[in-house]
Amino acid sequence: TIRLAVLASGRGSNLQAILDAIAAGTLAAEVVGVFSDKPGALALQRARDAGIHAEALRARGFASRDAFDAALFERVDAVHPDLIVCAGYMRIIGAAAVEARPGRMVNIHPSLLPLFKGLHTHQSALDAGETEHGASVHYVTAELDGGPVIAQARVPVLPGDDADALAARVLSREHPLLLETLRWIASGRIALHEHSVHVDGGRLRGPLQL
Ligand code: GAR
Repeated sequence: TIRLAVLASGRGSNLQAILDAIAAGTLAAEVVGVFSDKPGALALQRARDAGIHAEALRARGFASRDAFDAALFERVDAVHPDLIVCAGYMRIIGAAAVEARPGRMVNIHPSLLPLFKGLHTHQSALDAGETEHGASVHYVTAELDGGPVIAQARVPVLPGDDADALAARVLSREHPLLLETLRWIASGRIALHEHSVHVDGGRLRGPLQL
């Protein structure tokens, strides 16, 4: 059973999908801690409701990004996770913290990477006139939203969509995308080797389409 630490800044619907799948017996994992940069994050309450260790650390007061990361990841390391899952964690993680944990951090991002890194991905997809949009799960590297992509889910952009409508359509696919990716990682079939994703020991040619 893979030990997961989840980092989340807000609503926590992806966290909830993980907790529900574990409770239903469809994901062989244990969430050993939930960590946030926002004390009021609903994700923390969801964790506590499930009896899971949850804590927040405000960035304010730390002298630098690396100082904050060091304090946060000291707490994360204390629960001994096998994998750190960024699920709606909205703070940039500095290179030092990332590079100390190679292949042990994944992030779900609401776009078809490498398109639309960063914030406001849904509005950006609309503004660019995309007919297709989606979400990606990737290994975290020091390059923001730039690590090797493991899997993606695609949705159509429909006439009349606004950013909220598109976000909702993407989110409904994020949950199964994240769960299925975690199943692949938990089963040991997927791993990061030398900056690329390997499946069953061979290099993955392009993201899994889930
Ligand atoms: C999700 O759409 C996730 O892809 C996105 O934030 C939302 C969190 O929802 N993540 C990012 O934008 C990361 N830069 P949730 O809190 O309900 O899981």
